[in-house]
Order: sequence, then C-alpha cells, then structure tokens
Amino acid sequence: MPEKTAQPEEQPDAPGGSGAIERVLIGQHPAIVKLRALIAKVALGDVTVLITGESGVGKEVVARAIHSLSPRRARPFVPVNCAAIPRDLLESEMFGHERGAFTGASGSRQGLFNAASGGTIFLDEIGEMPMDLQAKLLRVLEDGEVRSVGSDRAVKVDVRVIAASNHDLASSVRKGTFREDLFYRLQVVPIVVPPLRERRSDIPILVDHFLGLIAARGGGRQITVSREAMVHLWSYDWPGNVRELENMVERLAILCDDSVIDTPVLPPILISGPRPPVIEIPANLPAAGINLRMIVREIEGRYINQALKQTGGNKQAAAKLLGLKRTTFDDKLRRCGVIAPGGTDDKEEP
Ligand SMILES: Nc1ncnc2c1ncn2[C@@H]1O[C@H](COP(=O)(O)OP(=O)(O)OP(=O)(O)O)[C@@H](O)[C@H]1O
Ligand SMILES: [Mg+2]
Repeated sequence: MPEKTAQPEEQPDAPGGSGAIERVLIGQHPAIVKLRALIAKVALGDVTVLITGESGVGKEVVARAIHSLSPRRARPFVPVNCAAIPRDLLESEMFGHERGAFTGASGSRQGLFNAASGGTIFLDEIGEMPMDLQAKLLRVLEDGEVRSVGSDRAVKVDVRVIAASNHDLASSVRKGTFREDLFYRLQVVPIVVPPLRERRSDIPILVDHFLGLIAARGGGRQITVSREAMVHLWSYDWPGNVRELENMVERLAILCDDSVIDTPVLPPILISGPRPPVIEIPANLPAAGINLRMIVREIEGRYINQALKQTGGNKQAAAKLLGLKRTTFDDKLRRCGVIAPGGTDDKEEP
C-alpha cells in the first residue's frame, strides 16, 4: 500500500493533545508504558500492524489509539470482525460487489475497504478469515488495490490495515490454517498486549479508572474499594482480562453498600485464592495407580464451583443443587480452598 505523507493542515487537533493516549490506554506497568511509546511511533507511518493478545486485553483500544494518533485520524476507522461475518459474505463485505455478482445482489455495493478510504481498517480476529480470502487480502496489501466481487477491474484504495488475533497466528501457520506469506506481510510491526495477570500493578489503576467513569455517568457518586477487597481483585487471574475487570467493577458498584466495595460483595470466584493445578481424571485405573482422595476432591471442587456460578454465589441454593446439607456444603467449600465471605480457609492436609 502506498506510503501516505502526513498532512498536518488537514487534521484536527489530536483528542486532548499528546496526553490523550494515557487517558484511553490506562496503566503504569512498564509493559504498558512501552506499549504506548510503540503506538506513538507506529502511528506516524502507514505500516501494517498485527496486534495479538488474549481476549479482552485491549487490542481494539490499541488499534483505535494508533488510528487516533496517526495522520489519518480525521478519516474513518472501520472495524471488521472477521469471525462475526458469515464466511460467504465476508469478501463482499470487505471489497464490495457488483450488481448480479451472486444470487440476491440486486444492486452494487461498496465494501468496507472503500468506506475506510483515507483512514484505517481494523481486521479483528483475522485468524478466522478463510484461506481463499487470505490470498485476496494479501494481494490488496501488496498492490493497494481492491477488486469487488463480480468485477474484473481493480481500484486503488488508500487504507491502512491493522489486524488483530487472540490466538497465536504462528501456530495457525504451522497447522496450515493461515497463510505464511500473509502472516509476515501483516506483522511488519507485531504488537503483543500482555494479559492482565502479567501486569497486576495496573489492576488498582484500572479499577479507579472504571469507578471514575461510573461516577461521571452516575452524577458523581464516587465509589471506593476496601484494602482487603483490592487484595482479592489483585490476586485473581482475570482470564477475561481488562474486559472482565471492567464488567466486574460495574457489577460490584451496583452491589456495594455505602459507596465502598468490600469483601462480602465479591463473588466466590474472586476470593477462592490460588487455583490448584488441574487434575486429570482417568476413565480407567492406570497401572501406576491414582490418588483417589485428590481425584474426589477435584470432582467436588468442580461441581461446587459450577453450583456457585449457577446460583450467583448463593450457598444455600448451591448446596441444594448438589443434594448436600448446608453444613456439609460449607465444610466442603473450605476443604476445596474456597473461602466463604467472613469464613476461614482451614484446608485439610492433602
Ligand atoms: N489499558 C486499558 N485502559 C482502559 N480500558 C481498557 C484498557 N484495556 C482494555 N480496556 C477496556 O476493556 C474492554 C476490552 O478491550 P478491547 O475490546 O480493546 O479488548 P480486545 O483485546 O479487543 O478483546 P477481544 O479479544 O475480546 O476482542 C474495553 O471496554 C476497553 O475499553
Ligand atoms: Mg476486540
């Protein structure tokens, strides 16, 4: 794609000036500070960027930040979720189609590449793109031209491409489900957004940020988090990353009393402490034998967690679901290392 030269006179002020990126990509962890510096650098050119990271880490935040700091910021940012669009529609969504190109194409239609003209297209979940379309995208990246479905004419487009994936595309290349040439063409600049559990020091900062947004929306009722509750938020592994934390803060802000989020309102999953390693449950007794006690504990733990999830943390209802008396349930809860609010964590020796 042709390199676009910066045209400062056509651009509005960056939203909020140079400090703007600190207000959208929150965090003080060295990995995030480095990430912001990298974003500011890649924003200036037109190189293709591949953003990878687990679900909810902030890949779209990064993509939008690159666009909003780039000379293209006055032009559209067009996100395309490759996993959400049916496979047979994706090509015409991206590149448009001519009248009669396929059954039901009663008129011609512009594609999203055209809609993003002069701006940035964000190809999210690119790993889900079918192989034949990957070949077409590669040609677009190499030639800077798109060909709409049913047309034999290629048209120049001036669009910057940012792609994202929440799984390792290199392993998709090894498995043969992602084109190697496209992989290298996309990741001219690879950006890896680390999971939240690898930057725990940002958890309190993000919690404050989300509580600030809630206060601004709700007319100023500033909610705080008790020290103990913050320790739990800090210790949890956040498999859903920043999105999970954001949703949790929203939920806790509704549940808490007196504008303070304290341990009793935290769901059991947040106060269960470090999770034991997953134990395999073999269908048949292996020759080497098993540790029956550990396996029974594992099965109990799994069902207890599921019961608590299904009942939104209501222990009485969870005990009933498992056909247990409440006292037996509480006892098992403690043995599995799930600390009930206000309870203890006296674990039985293995
Ligand atoms: N560093 C951050 N500062 C502030 N908000 C953030 C940050 N990272 C993520 N978020 C917020 O978390 C949510 C998830 O972020 P985003 O949609 O960018 O994640 P993602 O990696 O694209 O997720 P997915 O893989 O599920 O598409 C959004 O509401 C976003 O605003
Ligand atoms: Mg996303």
